[in-house]
Amino acid sequence: MTAVTPLVHPHSAIGDFTIRDVIEGQTAGQLIVAADDWGWWTTLLGGNTIAPTTGIQHTVAEGLVRAGFLVRRGHRYQLTHTGHDVGKNRGFVRVAVRGWEPTFRQLSDSPHREYIPAATEPGEVARGCTDIARRRPEIFEAIGHAIATGEPGCTIDLGCADAGRVTALAGIAERERFLGVDIEDGVIAAATAELDARGLGERITLLAGSVQPEPTPPAWLAEVDRDTVTTAMSFFLLHQLASDGDGIAAVLRGWMDWFPNLRRLVIGDGYLLEAPSWTQQPWFSPTYEIYHAVTGVRLWTRHEYEQAFADLGWIVRRRLEDHTMLVTTILELPRLSGPSADG
Ligand SMILES: C[S@@+](CC[C@H](N)C(=O)[O-])C[C@H]1O[C@@H](n2cnc3c(N)ncnc32)[C@H](O)[C@@H]1O
Repeated sequence: MTAVTPLVHPHSAIGDFTIRDVIEGQTAGQLIVAADDWGWWTTLLGGNTIAPTTGIQHTVAEGLVRAGFLVRRGHRYQLTHTGHDVGKNRGFVRVAVRGWEPTFRQLSDSPHREYIPAATEPGEVARGCTDIARRRPEIFEAIGHAIATGEPGCTIDLGCADAGRVTALAGIAERERFLGVDIEDGVIAAATAELDARGLGERITLLAGSVQPEPTPPAWLAEVDRDTVTTAMSFFLLHQLASDGDGIAAVLRGWMDWFPNLRRLVIGDGYLLEAPSWTQQPWFSPTYEIYHAVTGVRLWTRHEYEQAFADLGWIVRRRLEDHTMLVTTILELPRLSGPSADG
């Protein structure tokens, strides 16, 4: 039986939540995602107002008003300052509310287990991550500019999800070809159909399969002209592959073996930021940390990433920080590190 712990004063520690925060926060998250599925945030962030037409839409709009995200002007609604912030960050909300819900749900039946397997809604995680990426267009600009510098080649995105990143980069680095690989074949099939419909199927190829380096190469690699790949990118996946495998450097070494002419790496990931209480970390960091702790997937510190990069001879050309813990690093091998490669 669980020991009874003494009640502590409700405001004794920084980071206490009220019951109101817990319940209304959950509802607000659901409303934010629904409004996103209706395209409201895109409209509102574009500087326009929205006009609900059905009872359901009115209820959601009023809920968003009560939460402080919208303000009513006659029949229409517009963003508040907080609403602008929420809309920009709706990808984080989608990942936490919809994408990771199946994992957190398993906790109820798993008190005796050390870890539970990550059980995600892959389409929701993919869309949420792409929205997270899109909120900082200047990071895309920097990556696209680096890729477009010098001879065109082929850029591979390892763990590409719905191909949101390669699609955005294809618009910037117009002479580059792109490959994307992801283990979720349903997500890859849907993204391929979308690319074909948009006429991008010629420049962007998507393949389903694992990008975890193993003793036997994955089947998808046989479909790739490996010598042509000059840039390898991976976002929000390396921490997991490194945990399942033999650390960060081992994964990167595997990719370098697959693609012998690699001259640029672009690695984005969530770093481990340690702080004793919830509110001492930037928002989303505690949730990110807890999600990974329950699934047994390790998070790694900035020092651990940078040590691995250095051990393999990679030089950091740009470090682009977003949300404190989300860091994208553009790396090159020394032969490209002269002034001309800097762009
Ligand atoms: C957190 S999401 C990041 C998605 C995307 N890279 C982004 O940042 O927008 C992780 C992605 O890695 C994919 N994934 C997980 N394990 C994989 C593996 N072993 N090989 C390839 N993809 C994998 C998941 O399906 C998911 O799309």
